[in-house]
Amino acid sequence: MHHVLTADQFSRADLDRIMQRSTEMETIIKQGGSKICDGKILGALFYEPSTRTRLSFETAMLRLGGNVISESDVTFSSQSKGEVIEDTIRIVGGYSDVIAIRTKVKGEAKIAAHYSPVPVLNGGDGSGEHPTQSLLDLYTIVKHHKIGEEKLNVAFVGDLKYGRTVHSLAKILRNYDGVSLQFVAPEVIQMPDEYLNQGDAIHNTLSDEILQTADVIYDTRMQKERFEDIEQFNNVKNAFIFTRDMVSKMKPDATLMHPLPRVNEIMQRVDAMPQARYFEQALNGVPVRMSLIAEALEI
Ligand code: NCD
Repeated sequence: MHHVLTADQFSRADLDRIMQRSTEMETIIKQGGSKICDGKILGALFYEPSTRTRLSFETAMLRLGGNVISESDVTFSSQSKGEVIEDTIRIVGGYSDVIAIRTKVKGEAKIAAHYSPVPVLNGGDGSGEHPTQSLLDLYTIVKHHKIGEEKLNVAFVGDLKYGRTVHSLAKILRNYDGVSLQFVAPEVIQMPDEYLNQGDAIHNTLSDEILQTADVIYDTRMQKERFEDIEQFNNVKNAFIFTRDMVSKMKPDATLMHPLPRVNEIMQRVDAMPQARYFEQALNGVPVRMSLIAEALEI
């Protein structure tokens, strides 16, 4: 089955195919959508807050002519009665043809896939991974940079310990030649060892040199809900705040990304700057998720 569970599962050939198909899906959106998923149902099970991921999955299925059933408030779900994910997924998998799921627990998407009669697309498993996000992140990078052909200097900034989007994207980017990765975070929220490779650069502060030399800066939110110690969160919550002054030090053709939602880590006054591409990035979720749904359904 075509599950999407971790960024590890993608080869370079897979990534090339998904990028190509996502470009085609963008054209389909502009032409008013398609009917290739007519009669198919996406089950969206979201047990953590979500705006972009759930709604772009749902939009993707609707643009393909399919339908959606959705559960997005755990208090109204049988999960709140103590139902285990194995049972929920068996049932919802019986109602639908493909499932997008977001869970609170790292590794739970894999468990869900094990019990699911239909393909499972991981929309974020706790502090683990967010592989579909990393594909739309890659799509955004591919649109603006010659990744794999020219050197690409990518700096990840923010909560790299609990931020699942950076875990998946770092894995994805390792499929391309010429990409160098830098991780910028206070020690307590640095990138976990399991996602690091030899040759990665680790920094605790965001220097002018990093701003001036990065081709892509991928900023992230401090994941307040995942900190065990609120004091620790308070100590780091304002560690990086992108101002216009800082972004103006970036190369004119560099890209500032963020998976959103942002809290205070990028000032709104940055939004109009040419490097700011996070809203475009979020919109790219629709064509990329259209291609993932089509692949899952073997269409
Ligand atoms: C992210 C997530 O849920 O991991 N959001 C998203 O899916 N676009 C990032 C975050 O919550 O900070």
